[in-house]
Amino acid sequence: MSGARFSSSPPSTTVLLVGVDFGLPHFDLELQELGLLAQTAGMTPVARIACKRKAPDAALFVGSGKADEIRALAQMHGATEVLFDQSLSPAQQRNLERHIELPVNDRTLLILEIFAQRARSHEGKLQVELARLQYLSTRLVRRWSHLERQTGGIGARGGPGEKQIELDRRMIGDAIKRTRERLVKLKRQRSTQRRQRERRDTFDISLVGYTNAGKSTIFNALVKARAYAADQLFATLDTTTRQLYLGAAGRSVSLSDTVGFIRDLPHGLIDAFQATLQEAVEADLLLHVVDSSNPEFPEQMTQVQRVLREIGAEGIPQILVFNKIDALESDRYPAILEDCYEVDGHMIPRLFVSARSGEGLDGLRSILSSKVLAAAGVMTPDTAIELPSELP
Ligand code: GTP
Repeated sequence: MSGARFSSSPPSTTVLLVGVDFGLPHFDLELQELGLLAQTAGMTPVARIACKRKAPDAALFVGSGKADEIRALAQMHGATEVLFDQSLSPAQQRNLERHIELPVNDRTLLILEIFAQRARSHEGKLQVELARLQYLSTRLVRRWSHLERQTGGIGARGGPGEKQIELDRRMIGDAIKRTRERLVKLKRQRSTQRRQRERRDTFDISLVGYTNAGKSTIFNALVKARAYAADQLFATLDTTTRQLYLGAAGRSVSLSDTVGFIRDLPHGLIDAFQATLQEAVEADLLLHVVDSSNPEFPEQMTQVQRVLREIGAEGIPQILVFNKIDALESDRYPAILEDCYEVDGHMIPRLFVSARSGEGLDGLRSILSSKVLAAAGVMTPDTAIELPSELP
Protein backbone atom coordinates (compact mmCIF):
# COMPACT_ATOMS: atom_id res chain seq x y z
CA MET A 1 0.00 0.00 0.00
CA SER A 2 1.33 3.44 -0.81
CA GLY A 3 0.28 6.97 0.00
CA ALA A 4 1.09 10.05 -2.08
CA ARG A 5 0.24 13.73 -1.80
CA PHE A 6 -1.62 15.55 -4.57
CA SER A 7 -1.63 19.22 -3.58
CA SER A 8 -1.68 21.33 -0.46
CA SER A 9 -4.08 24.12 -1.55
CA PRO A 10 -6.79 24.98 1.00
CA PRO A 11 -9.86 23.05 -0.15
CA SER A 12 -13.61 23.01 0.36
CA THR A 13 -14.07 19.23 0.24
CA THR A 14 -10.71 17.54 0.54
CA VAL A 15 -10.72 13.93 -0.53
CA LEU A 16 -8.55 10.90 -0.06
CA LEU A 17 -8.65 8.68 -3.17
CA VAL A 18 -8.61 4.92 -2.68
CA GLY A 19 -8.05 2.30 -5.38
CA VAL A 20 -8.13 -1.46 -4.84
CA ASP A 21 -6.31 -3.65 -7.35
CA PHE A 22 -8.09 -7.01 -7.70
CA GLY A 23 -5.73 -8.05 -10.50
CA LEU A 24 -8.07 -6.85 -13.24
CA PRO A 25 -6.45 -5.38 -16.37
CA HIS A 26 -6.03 -1.58 -16.60
CA PHE A 27 -5.96 -0.94 -12.87
CA ASP A 28 -5.35 2.81 -12.57
CA LEU A 29 -2.51 2.80 -10.02
CA GLU A 30 -2.18 6.58 -10.13
CA LEU A 31 -5.96 7.01 -9.75
CA GLN A 32 -5.74 9.77 -12.34
CA GLU A 33 -9.25 9.43 -13.72
CA LEU A 34 -10.76 9.32 -10.22
CA GLY A 35 -8.74 12.45 -9.34
CA LEU A 36 -10.02 14.24 -12.45
CA LEU A 37 -13.59 13.15 -11.68
CA ALA A 38 -13.23 14.49 -8.12
CA GLN A 39 -11.89 17.82 -9.42
CA THR A 40 -14.70 18.00 -11.96
CA ALA A 41 -17.16 17.60 -9.06
CA GLY A 42 -15.44 20.55 -7.31
CA MET A 43 -13.44 18.50 -4.77
CA THR A 44 -9.72 18.67 -4.04
CA PRO A 45 -7.82 15.38 -3.87
CA VAL A 46 -5.20 15.70 -1.11
CA ALA A 47 -3.79 12.17 -1.10
CA ARG A 48 -4.21 8.80 -2.73
CA ILE A 49 -3.72 5.25 -1.60
CA ALA A 50 -3.74 2.03 -3.61
CA CYS A 51 -3.74 -1.54 -2.34
CA LYS A 52 -3.91 -5.09 -3.68
CA ARG A 53 -6.45 -7.70 -2.66
CA LYS A 54 -7.54 -11.07 -4.03
CA ALA A 55 -11.22 -10.38 -3.33
CA PRO A 56 -13.27 -7.67 -1.60
CA ASP A 57 -13.84 -8.04 2.12
CA ALA A 58 -17.60 -8.49 2.55
CA ALA A 59 -17.87 -6.08 5.48
CA LEU A 60 -15.14 -3.48 4.93
CA PHE A 61 -14.15 -3.98 1.27
CA VAL A 62 -10.44 -3.47 2.06
CA GLY A 63 -10.33 -5.32 5.42
CA SER A 64 -9.97 -3.71 8.83
CA GLY A 65 -6.17 -3.28 8.78
CA LYS A 66 -6.30 -1.29 5.54
CA ALA A 67 -9.33 0.64 6.74
CA ASP A 68 -7.22 1.71 9.77
CA GLU A 69 -4.48 2.87 7.38
CA ILE A 70 -7.00 4.84 5.32
CA ARG A 71 -8.32 6.53 8.47
CA ALA A 72 -4.78 7.47 9.57
CA LEU A 73 -3.84 8.79 6.13
CA ALA A 74 -7.06 10.81 5.89
CA GLN A 75 -6.33 12.37 9.28
CA MET A 76 -2.72 13.11 8.34
CA HIS A 77 -3.76 14.98 5.18
CA GLY A 78 -6.89 16.58 6.59
CA ALA A 79 -9.21 14.79 4.15
CA THR A 80 -12.89 15.40 4.84
CA GLU A 81 -14.14 12.58 2.60
CA VAL A 82 -12.91 9.26 1.22
CA LEU A 83 -13.55 8.25 -2.40
CA PHE A 84 -13.24 4.68 -3.68
CA ASP A 85 -12.49 3.96 -7.36
CA GLN A 86 -14.49 0.72 -7.14
CA SER A 87 -18.20 0.32 -6.43
CA LEU A 88 -19.05 -0.36 -2.80
CA SER A 89 -22.10 -2.25 -1.63
CA PRO A 90 -24.44 -0.26 0.62
CA ALA A 91 -23.28 -2.30 3.65
CA GLN A 92 -19.58 -1.82 2.85
CA GLN A 93 -20.11 1.91 2.47
CA ARG A 94 -21.92 2.14 5.83
CA ASN A 95 -19.34 -0.01 7.64
CA LEU A 96 -16.44 1.97 6.16
CA GLU A 97 -18.03 5.28 7.21
CA ARG A 98 -18.35 3.98 10.76
CA HIS A 99 -14.79 2.67 10.78
CA ILE A 100 -13.09 5.65 9.12
CA GLU A 101 -15.38 8.23 10.75
CA LEU A 102 -15.69 10.20 7.52
CA PRO A 103 -18.18 10.19 4.64
CA VAL A 104 -17.24 7.44 2.17
CA ASN A 105 -18.40 7.50 -1.44
CA ASP A 106 -17.59 5.62 -4.61
CA ARG A 107 -16.99 6.37 -8.26
CA THR A 108 -20.62 5.64 -9.15
CA LEU A 109 -21.97 8.31 -6.82
CA LEU A 110 -19.30 10.74 -8.01
CA ILE A 111 -20.33 10.32 -11.65
CA LEU A 112 -23.98 10.75 -10.66
CA GLU A 113 -23.12 13.96 -8.81
CA ILE A 114 -21.23 15.35 -11.81
CA PHE A 115 -24.08 14.51 -14.14
CA ALA A 116 -26.48 16.18 -11.69
CA GLN A 117 -24.34 19.34 -11.64
CA ARG A 118 -23.98 19.42 -15.43
CA ALA A 119 -27.39 18.49 -16.81
CA ARG A 120 -28.90 21.56 -18.47
CA SER A 121 -32.05 20.43 -20.27
CA HIS A 122 -35.23 19.64 -18.38
CA GLU A 123 -35.11 16.05 -19.64
CA GLY A 124 -31.43 15.63 -18.77
CA LYS A 125 -32.09 16.84 -15.22
CA LEU A 126 -35.01 14.45 -14.77
CA GLN A 127 -32.98 11.53 -16.11
CA VAL A 128 -30.12 12.19 -13.71
CA GLU A 129 -32.56 12.61 -10.85
CA LEU A 130 -34.09 9.21 -11.66
CA ALA A 131 -30.67 7.51 -11.75
CA ARG A 132 -29.74 9.17 -8.47
CA LEU A 133 -32.95 8.13 -6.76
CA GLN A 134 -32.46 4.54 -7.93
CA TYR A 135 -28.92 4.56 -6.53
CA LEU A 136 -30.08 6.06 -3.24
CA SER A 137 -32.96 3.63 -2.90
CA THR A 138 -30.41 0.88 -2.28
CA ARG A 139 -28.64 3.02 0.29
CA LEU A 140 -31.08 3.95 2.99
CA VAL A 141 -28.99 6.53 4.72
CA ARG A 142 -30.68 9.90 4.89
CA ARG A 143 -28.93 11.86 2.14
CA TRP A 144 -31.91 13.29 0.29
CA SER A 145 -33.04 16.24 2.34
CA HIS A 146 -34.30 17.93 -0.86
CA LEU A 147 -37.04 15.28 -1.06
CA GLU A 148 -38.24 16.22 2.40
CA ARG A 149 -38.86 19.75 1.14
CA GLN A 150 -40.86 18.45 -1.82
CA THR A 151 -43.12 16.23 0.28
CA GLY A 152 -43.64 18.65 3.16
CA GLY A 153 -41.11 17.06 5.47
CA ILE A 154 -40.64 13.88 7.38
CA GLY A 155 -43.65 12.99 9.46
CA ALA A 156 -46.08 14.73 7.13
CA ARG A 157 -47.22 11.43 5.68
CA GLY A 158 -46.65 8.66 8.24
CA GLY A 159 -47.68 8.28 11.87
CA PRO A 160 -45.16 9.10 14.58
CA GLY A 161 -44.58 5.43 15.30
CA GLU A 162 -43.67 4.61 11.69
CA LYS A 163 -40.06 3.67 11.25
CA GLN A 164 -37.82 6.23 9.58
CA ILE A 165 -36.55 3.71 7.08
CA GLU A 166 -40.07 2.95 5.81
CA LEU A 167 -40.78 6.64 5.39
CA ASP A 168 -37.55 7.05 3.46
CA ARG A 169 -38.33 4.06 1.29
CA ARG A 170 -41.81 5.31 0.55
CA MET A 171 -40.57 8.83 -0.21
CA ILE A 172 -37.99 7.55 -2.66
CA GLY A 173 -40.48 5.16 -4.25
CA ASP A 174 -42.96 8.05 -4.76
CA ALA A 175 -40.27 10.31 -6.19
CA ILE A 176 -39.10 7.58 -8.62
CA LYS A 177 -42.69 7.09 -9.81
CA ARG A 178 -43.27 10.83 -10.29
CA THR A 179 -39.98 11.30 -12.16
CA ARG A 180 -40.70 8.31 -14.42
CA GLU A 181 -44.12 9.70 -15.32
CA ARG A 182 -42.67 13.10 -16.22
CA LEU A 183 -40.01 11.43 -18.36
CA VAL A 184 -42.56 9.35 -20.26
CA LYS A 185 -44.42 12.56 -21.12
CA LEU A 186 -41.23 14.28 -22.28
CA LYS A 187 -40.15 11.27 -24.36
CA ARG A 188 -43.49 11.35 -26.18
CA GLN A 189 -42.91 15.02 -27.08
CA ARG A 190 -39.38 14.22 -28.18
CA SER A 191 -40.42 11.43 -30.53
CA THR A 192 -42.94 13.76 -32.19
CA GLN A 193 -40.13 16.27 -32.78
CA ARG A 194 -37.94 13.47 -34.16
CA ARG A 195 -40.62 12.33 -36.59
CA GLN A 196 -40.85 15.90 -37.87
CA ARG A 197 -37.08 15.93 -38.34
CA GLU A 198 -37.07 12.56 -40.13
CA ARG A 199 -39.34 13.99 -42.80
CA ARG A 200 -36.54 16.37 -43.73
CA ASP A 201 -33.79 14.95 -45.93
CA THR A 202 -30.73 15.25 -43.64
CA PHE A 203 -27.44 13.42 -43.23
CA ASP A 204 -26.71 13.15 -39.51
CA ILE A 205 -23.22 12.77 -38.08
CA SER A 206 -22.62 12.23 -34.35
CA LEU A 207 -19.37 12.72 -32.48
CA VAL A 208 -18.91 9.98 -29.89
CA GLY A 209 -15.93 9.09 -27.74
CA TYR A 210 -14.45 8.66 -24.30
CA THR A 211 -14.78 11.67 -22.04
CA ASN A 212 -12.04 14.31 -22.60
CA ALA A 213 -11.09 12.89 -26.04
CA GLY A 214 -11.72 16.29 -27.63
CA LYS A 215 -15.19 15.91 -29.18
CA SER A 216 -16.33 19.46 -28.35
CA THR A 217 -13.05 20.92 -29.63
CA ILE A 218 -13.43 19.07 -32.94
CA PHE A 219 -17.10 20.07 -33.10
CA ASN A 220 -16.13 23.72 -32.58
CA ALA A 221 -13.31 23.55 -35.11
CA LEU A 222 -15.62 22.06 -37.74
CA VAL A 223 -18.70 24.25 -37.27
CA LYS A 224 -16.92 27.23 -35.70
CA ALA A 225 -19.42 27.16 -32.85
CA ARG A 226 -18.57 27.60 -29.24
CA ALA A 227 -19.61 24.40 -27.49
CA TYR A 228 -18.12 24.21 -24.02
CA ALA A 229 -14.69 22.51 -24.13
CA ALA A 230 -12.72 22.11 -20.94
CA ASP A 231 -10.14 19.84 -19.36
CA GLN A 232 -12.85 18.33 -17.22
CA LEU A 233 -14.79 15.13 -17.56
CA PHE A 234 -18.31 15.40 -18.97
CA ALA A 235 -18.02 19.06 -19.92
CA THR A 236 -20.79 18.32 -22.42
CA LEU A 237 -23.92 16.62 -21.15
CA ASP A 238 -26.71 17.66 -23.45
CA THR A 239 -26.42 17.01 -27.16
CA THR A 240 -25.66 20.07 -29.28
CA THR A 241 -26.46 19.97 -32.99
CA ARG A 242 -25.30 22.40 -35.70
CA GLN A 243 -25.34 22.48 -39.47
CA LEU A 244 -21.95 21.84 -41.10
CA TYR A 245 -21.49 22.94 -44.71
CA LEU A 246 -19.26 20.59 -46.72
CA GLY A 247 -18.06 22.49 -49.78
CA ALA A 248 -16.82 19.40 -51.64
CA ALA A 249 -20.22 17.74 -51.29
CA GLY A 250 -22.06 20.99 -51.99
CA ARG A 251 -24.46 20.50 -49.10
CA SER A 252 -24.91 20.77 -45.35
CA VAL A 253 -25.05 17.92 -42.88
CA SER A 254 -26.09 18.01 -39.25
CA LEU A 255 -23.32 17.43 -36.72
CA SER A 256 -24.05 16.50 -33.08
CA ASP A 257 -21.76 16.59 -30.07
CA THR A 258 -22.84 13.97 -27.50
CA VAL A 259 -22.10 13.12 -23.88
CA GLY A 260 -18.67 11.57 -23.21
CA PHE A 261 -18.47 7.87 -22.41
CA ILE A 262 -16.58 6.50 -19.40
CA ARG A 263 -15.75 3.05 -18.05
CA ASP A 264 -18.16 1.68 -15.45
CA LEU A 265 -20.81 4.26 -16.24
CA PRO A 266 -23.45 3.69 -13.55
CA HIS A 267 -26.07 1.48 -15.11
CA GLY A 268 -28.94 3.75 -14.21
CA LEU A 269 -27.21 6.47 -16.19
CA ILE A 270 -26.83 4.38 -19.33
CA ASP A 271 -30.61 3.93 -19.28
CA ALA A 272 -31.18 7.50 -18.25
CA PHE A 273 -29.01 8.87 -21.03
CA GLN A 274 -30.63 6.86 -23.79
CA ALA A 275 -32.32 10.04 -24.94
CA THR A 276 -29.07 12.03 -25.06
CA LEU A 277 -27.38 9.18 -26.89
CA GLN A 278 -30.42 8.79 -29.11
CA GLU A 279 -28.73 11.22 -31.50
CA ALA A 280 -25.89 8.69 -31.83
CA VAL A 281 -28.28 5.78 -32.40
CA GLU A 282 -30.02 7.61 -35.21
CA ALA A 283 -26.93 8.99 -36.94
CA ASP A 284 -25.94 8.05 -40.49
CA LEU A 285 -22.28 8.17 -39.51
CA LEU A 286 -20.37 8.15 -36.21
CA LEU A 287 -17.11 10.02 -35.71
CA HIS A 288 -15.47 8.08 -32.91
CA VAL A 289 -13.00 10.54 -31.39
CA VAL A 290 -9.99 8.99 -29.61
CA ASP A 291 -7.37 10.79 -27.49
CA SER A 292 -4.35 9.25 -29.21
CA SER A 293 -1.99 10.85 -26.67
CA ASN A 294 -3.55 8.91 -23.78
CA PRO A 295 -1.72 5.60 -23.17
CA GLU A 296 -5.08 4.11 -22.13
CA PHE A 297 -6.69 4.83 -25.52
CA PRO A 298 -7.18 1.15 -26.56
CA GLU A 299 -9.13 0.44 -23.34
CA GLN A 300 -11.10 3.68 -23.79
CA MET A 301 -12.02 2.63 -27.34
CA THR A 302 -13.20 -0.75 -26.02
CA GLN A 303 -15.44 1.02 -23.51
CA VAL A 304 -16.94 3.24 -26.22
CA GLN A 305 -17.61 0.24 -28.48
CA ARG A 306 -19.27 -1.55 -25.55
CA VAL A 307 -21.63 1.36 -24.87
CA LEU A 308 -22.39 1.69 -28.60
CA ARG A 309 -23.42 -1.98 -28.58
CA GLU A 310 -25.56 -1.40 -25.48
CA ILE A 311 -27.47 1.45 -27.10
CA GLY A 312 -27.87 -0.44 -30.39
CA ALA A 313 -25.53 1.79 -32.44
CA GLU A 314 -22.91 -0.84 -33.32
CA GLY A 315 -24.13 -1.21 -36.91
CA ILE A 316 -23.69 2.47 -37.82
CA PRO A 317 -20.64 3.19 -40.05
CA GLN A 318 -17.77 4.76 -38.12
CA ILE A 319 -14.72 6.86 -38.82
CA LEU A 320 -12.02 6.83 -36.16
CA VAL A 321 -10.64 10.29 -35.46
CA PHE A 322 -7.35 9.96 -33.58
CA ASN A 323 -7.10 13.41 -32.01
CA LYS A 324 -4.35 15.30 -30.14
CA ILE A 325 -1.48 14.28 -32.43
CA ASP A 326 0.21 17.56 -31.47
CA ALA A 327 0.69 16.02 -28.00
CA LEU A 328 2.42 12.85 -29.28
CA GLU A 329 6.12 12.18 -28.79
CA SER A 330 7.93 12.59 -32.10
CA ASP A 331 8.63 8.83 -32.35
CA ARG A 332 4.89 8.08 -32.07
CA TYR A 333 3.90 10.68 -34.66
CA PRO A 334 2.07 8.93 -37.56
CA ALA A 335 3.87 8.70 -40.91
CA ILE A 336 0.58 9.07 -42.78
CA LEU A 337 -2.55 10.79 -41.55
CA GLU A 338 -5.08 8.37 -43.08
CA ASP A 339 -5.22 4.59 -42.84
CA CYS A 340 -7.48 1.83 -41.49
CA TYR A 341 -7.59 0.37 -37.99
CA GLU A 342 -9.09 -2.91 -36.83
CA VAL A 343 -11.95 -2.71 -34.35
CA ASP A 344 -13.82 -5.90 -33.36
CA GLY A 345 -12.61 -7.66 -36.52
CA HIS A 346 -13.64 -4.80 -38.88
CA MET A 347 -11.27 -2.45 -40.67
CA ILE A 348 -12.43 1.11 -39.99
CA PRO A 349 -11.14 4.25 -41.75
CA ARG A 350 -8.90 6.24 -39.41
CA LEU A 351 -7.69 9.82 -39.55
CA PHE A 352 -5.10 11.48 -37.35
CA VAL A 353 -5.93 15.08 -36.44
CA SER A 354 -5.17 17.82 -33.99
CA ALA A 355 -8.28 19.84 -33.20
CA ARG A 356 -5.96 22.26 -31.41
CA SER A 357 -3.58 23.00 -34.31
CA GLY A 358 -6.08 22.25 -37.09
CA GLU A 359 -3.83 19.60 -38.65
CA GLY A 360 -5.75 16.87 -40.46
CA LEU A 361 -9.11 18.69 -40.28
CA ASP A 362 -9.18 19.30 -44.05
CA GLY A 363 -8.73 15.55 -44.52
CA LEU A 364 -11.62 14.98 -42.11
CA ARG A 365 -13.87 17.39 -44.05
CA SER A 366 -13.02 15.69 -47.32
CA ILE A 367 -13.72 12.16 -46.02
CA LEU A 368 -17.05 13.44 -44.63
CA SER A 369 -17.88 14.91 -48.04
CA SER A 370 -17.15 11.60 -49.76
CA LYS A 371 -19.33 9.72 -47.26
CA VAL A 372 -22.20 12.14 -47.87
CA LEU A 373 -21.82 11.80 -51.64
CA ALA A 374 -21.60 8.00 -51.34
CA ALA A 375 -24.84 7.99 -49.32
CA ALA A 376 -26.44 9.99 -52.13
CA GLY A 377 -25.13 7.43 -54.67
CA VAL A 378 -22.39 9.66 -56.12
CA MET A 379 -19.04 7.90 -56.73
CA THR A 380 -15.83 9.67 -55.73
CA PRO A 381 -12.26 8.26 -55.71
CA ASP A 382 -12.63 7.69 -51.94
CA THR A 383 -15.94 5.83 -52.14
CA ALA A 384 -14.71 3.75 -55.08
CA ILE A 385 -11.66 2.62 -53.11
CA GLU A 386 -13.84 1.48 -50.24
CA LEU A 387 -16.14 -0.68 -52.32
CA PRO A 388 -14.05 -3.90 -52.42
CA SER A 389 -14.04 -4.22 -48.62
CA GLU A 390 -17.84 -4.35 -48.69
CA LEU A 391 -17.88 -7.23 -51.18
CA PRO A 392 -17.87 -10.82 -49.84
P1 GTP B 1 -16.36 15.57 -22.58
O1 GTP B 1 -17.28 16.75 -22.58
O2 GTP B 1 -15.80 15.26 -21.24
O3 GTP B 1 -16.93 14.36 -23.24
O4 GTP B 1 -15.01 16.01 -23.36
P2 GTP B 1 -14.75 16.19 -24.92
O5 GTP B 1 -14.45 14.88 -25.57
O6 GTP B 1 -15.82 17.03 -25.54
O7 GTP B 1 -13.35 16.98 -24.87
P3 GTP B 1 -13.08 18.55 -25.00
O8 GTP B 1 -13.28 19.01 -26.40
O9 GTP B 1 -13.79 19.24 -23.88
O10 GTP B 1 -11.49 18.56 -24.75
C1 GTP B 1 -10.91 18.03 -23.57
C2 GTP B 1 -9.55 18.66 -23.37
O11 GTP B 1 -8.66 18.25 -24.42
C3 GTP B 1 -9.56 20.21 -23.42
O12 GTP B 1 -8.64 20.68 -22.46
C4 GTP B 1 -9.07 20.52 -24.83
O13 GTP B 1 -8.45 21.78 -24.90
C5 GTP B 1 -8.08 19.39 -25.04
N1 GTP B 1 -7.90 19.10 -26.48
C6 GTP B 1 -8.86 18.92 -27.41
N2 GTP B 1 -8.32 18.69 -28.63
C7 GTP B 1 -6.96 18.73 -28.48
C8 GTP B 1 -5.85 18.57 -29.36
O14 GTP B 1 -5.96 18.37 -30.56
N3 GTP B 1 -4.61 18.64 -28.78
C9 GTP B 1 -4.42 18.87 -27.46
N4 GTP B 1 -3.17 18.92 -27.01
N5 GTP B 1 -5.45 19.04 -26.59
C10 GTP B 1 -6.70 18.98 -27.09
